[in-house]
Amino acid sequence: KVFPDKNIASIKVAQRIAEIIKRKNSKNEYAVLGLATGQTPVGVYAELVRMHKEEGLSFQNVITFNLDEYYPMKPTSAQSYVAFMNYHLFDHVDIKPENVNIPDGTLDKENIHDYCLQYENKISEAGGMDIQVLGIGRTGHIGFNEPGSAPNSGTRLVTLDDLTRSDASRDFGGKENVPTKAITMGIGTIFKAKEIVLLAWSKKKAPIVKRAVEEEMSGDVPATFLQMSDTVEFILDEDAASEL
Ligand code: GLP
Repeated sequence: KVFPDKNIASIKVAQRIAEIIKRKNSKNEYAVLGLATGQTPVGVYAELVRMHKEEGLSFQNVITFNLDEYYPMKPTSAQSYVAFMNYHLFDHVDIKPENVNIPDGTLDKENIHDYCLQYENKISEAGGMDIQVLGIGRTGHIGFNEPGSAPNSGTRLVTLDDLTRSDASRDFGGKENVPTKAITMGIGTIFKAKEIVLLAWSKKKAPIVKRAVEEEMSGDVPATFLQMSDTVEFILDEDAASEL
């Protein structure tokens, strides 16, 4: 779906999420949201915060799972995805802290494998995500599933691509400060979602959006694996869609 600009598109996505939250609430059930970081979903979170403050949208029945976190990363660090999510969403809504799940960047290496299995199990126990929000990196990554990721991959420790680290360098005040690794949900984990929306804005994303949508499925562009599912929607502004 192509929208005239990212603001209109972000509001649409926020409305879809709010609908799911309200539908689940009316049945006394939890809404399970899969959330992404990066600049792309910021407008969606801003609209959800507005709906909470001005329209009373409650997050009391919401469970969230974030896609990824840098490794190593302290949650108190300004660059952590914990800080990002608190700043853009969680600090401004009434979500119960125990219902927020973000991969833990502070684990000892030898505990990561078990932790990732637990993260995966927790998602399954919650019934999978009702909706998964995705951005896309210029390598074609979703979450931090870089080129070479398998379509059935689970939550795991991965090595970040050079381009991904360059793109993150501004946040870290230099590429040398960007962690080389991350913990990410796998592509198989993302497919546990009942509905997936991939968001992309601006000309900068146009070439990778074209490859994700039009190229044959392959690990070279992990986002192409989304072609396997018929519950995936690409939500684009005109610039991101300009090469399709
Ligand atoms: C990071 C995140 C991804 C995100 C990507 C794009 O790599 N781990 O989940 O999709 O950045 O970021 P942006 O939305 O800022 O372009």
